[in-house]
Amino acid sequence: MSSMTTAIRGAAVAWRDDPFVVPPGEALRFERDAVLVMRDGHIEVFGPADAVLPRLPQEAPVTRYERSLIVPGFVDCHVHYPQLPIIGAGGHPLLEWLDRYTFPAEQAFADEGHARAVARSFLRELMRNGTTTAAVFCTVHAASAEALFAEAAPTGLRIVAGKCLMDRNVPDGLGDTAQRGYDESNALIDRWHGRGRLGYAVTPRFVASSSPAQLEAASALWREHPGTLLQSHLSENVEEVAWVRRLFPECADYVGVFDRFGLLGRGAIHGHGIHLSERERERLAETATALAHCPTSNFFLGSGLFDLAAAKRRRIPIPVGLATDVGAGTTLSMIATMGAAARVAQLRGNPLHPVQALWLATAGAARALTLEDRVGNLAVGLEGDAVVLDLAATPLLEERLRRVEAIDDLLAVLSTVGDDRCVRATYAGGMPVWVRGERAAEAQ
Ligand code: GUN
Ligand code: ZN
Repeated sequence: MSSMTTAIRGAAVAWRDDPFVVPPGEALRFERDAVLVMRDGHIEVFGPADAVLPRLPQEAPVTRYERSLIVPGFVDCHVHYPQLPIIGAGGHPLLEWLDRYTFPAEQAFADEGHARAVARSFLRELMRNGTTTAAVFCTVHAASAEALFAEAAPTGLRIVAGKCLMDRNVPDGLGDTAQRGYDESNALIDRWHGRGRLGYAVTPRFVASSSPAQLEAASALWREHPGTLLQSHLSENVEEVAWVRRLFPECADYVGVFDRFGLLGRGAIHGHGIHLSERERERLAETATALAHCPTSNFFLGSGLFDLAAAKRRRIPIPVGLATDVGAGTTLSMIATMGAAARVAQLRGNPLHPVQALWLATAGAARALTLEDRVGNLAVGLEGDAVVLDLAATPLLEERLRRVEAIDDLLAVLSTVGDDRCVRATYAGGMPVWVRGERAAEAQ
């Protein structure tokens, strides 16, 4: 094996299919003893140890993980890195929370030094949580996106990000203009999109903070640069929905505003989508527009309970991924976020299968970002992103899992009592980027 080869061994899960389409038991592939070989950034081999090991050179080092479960690297498809310093602040509803805590904190990102320091902490936290791909909101300042991309480039993580476009209804010093937002986004796309594992997302923050001219510019940017994503917020809070109706009286509803400005389609992903009508869901489905489900954020701001069943149980399902939405979200752990999604589903009266929760945190989120050919699964040819979960991370987890046989039950317990403490090692782009207890890998 070459020096760029990494091989790990242990129990593992991967995807055969979508558990919202086929029964979860058929969708999930569980290997009690698997070997994953990653070379030059990609997965070269994945299969049962007894089949793979004889094909490896005798001297090939294979790191063996006991009492563990290897899963695809987590994908957080909606998160705000500049809000890491205000996680847990307030507990007010969305619009008040934005005014009192979020906008003041985002003002500081005009300073690239501050932005770089927060970006470094954020990226370290992603690795520590086993998140290997994230779609990230920066602030309105181009420097905030520049800082994140510059810090992310050497990490090996797959990061899609964009500077916020926001030219109205925002405090002084925290706005751009349609032209300036267009020009700065263009320059960032030229500089960073497609460089290594980095990608650009055109980011109109939400339609209430962009003029019609800026929404038109956002659509133009997205269409002029194929392969970029488009991310925003949609129908999160009842006051916000009423405000958007007042701002755009000519549009039928919230989704109608996105539609009018050409902001729907494959490659568009909008956060929340809680207070949607059937008409709006149908329009998202037929345009293949994705939703980011952010359960801990929705709890924290009291925004409402996302109706996952309504998004999924339809002729054309809506692509949905799971996301933390930090700083309104209360954790960067996708494991904890899976547990929160299960609680929302219970309150909705449509329990979420634990295998479906894992899908939403991996392959489902990858699909929502149109990255399913690259990440979200352990399959030959995909990028080498994997997380080793410690099934004895806490005394309670160890004790509880002694009573568990089936993989479904294991995933249910893990997502109920597990969190970042369960992450033993994170591999991104085929390399270990974080190993618990090892300073060298943590340093980066
Ligand atoms: N809507 C507009 N901006 C934001 C934000 O920063 N967080 C959340 N949760 N919703 C938003
Ligand atoms: Zn958000």
